Amino acid sequence: MKKSVIPVLPDLVYKIVLVPELKVLLSRDQIAKRVTEMAEEITRDFKGQSVIFVGVLKGAAIFLSDLARQVSLDATFDFIGVSSYGNRPIAADDPAGHAAWDSLGEVRVTKDLDQSMTDRNVILVEDILDTGLTLNYIQKLLLAHQPRTLRIAALLDKPSRRKQPIHAHYIGFAIPDAYVVGYGLDYAERYRNLPDICVIENP
Ligand code: IMP
Ligand code: MG
Repeated sequence: MKKSVIPVLPDLVYKIVLVPELKVLLSRDQIAKRVTEMAEEITRDFKGQSVIFVGVLKGAAIFLSDLARQVSLDATFDFIGVSSYGNRPIAADDPAGHAAWDSLGEVRVTKDLDQSMTDRNVILVEDILDTGLTLNYIQKLLLAHQPRTLRIAALLDKPSRRKQPIHAHYIGFAIPDAYVVGYGLDYAERYRNLPDICVIENP
């Protein structure tokens, strides 16, 4: 097979060749700075205690790994898998009239927690808070374990899209109503590995 002749110019390849439809909304530097601040806040809030980070698969995996490494506390991890959007974009002519990335309101557990959250300081880590349906569902599920405390850390928040009220203690950035990818966030499973958070046009 013929090898690629694209020279190793990461930014050029990234912007022009690979993802021409993407515009950077939050750069890797902005993200790193904010994640550090969030980690410092968590470290202060739980001083002298242990915490368990519960990441929502798969989108929160990158955020959790960056956040947890900067939290100076005794910490463990768990992950929960939920499916609310499916793997494919919803057709523009969807008979139910959903927008291209609208939530169907159905949340299904695809990977349950490995351990009990009873009497633990749980920090639920999510990539983005959109309609609020996913986090409301997971929050209820976690509260049934009777944790000592339950806090939500969401890197992004799209407040204008909320359908169910939810309170997140730690929010990285409030963003406008646009579909974003990168830093764990996907569009039909692609783009999770982009280091910046980008707006995808015409998803
Ligand atoms: P909610 O239940 O509507 O709050 O949706 C939360 C989930 O929807 C997130 O965990 C993401 O997986 C997905 N989601 C919402 N908005 C976006 C986006 O702009 N880009 C990628 N995924 C999104
Ligand atoms: Mg998600």
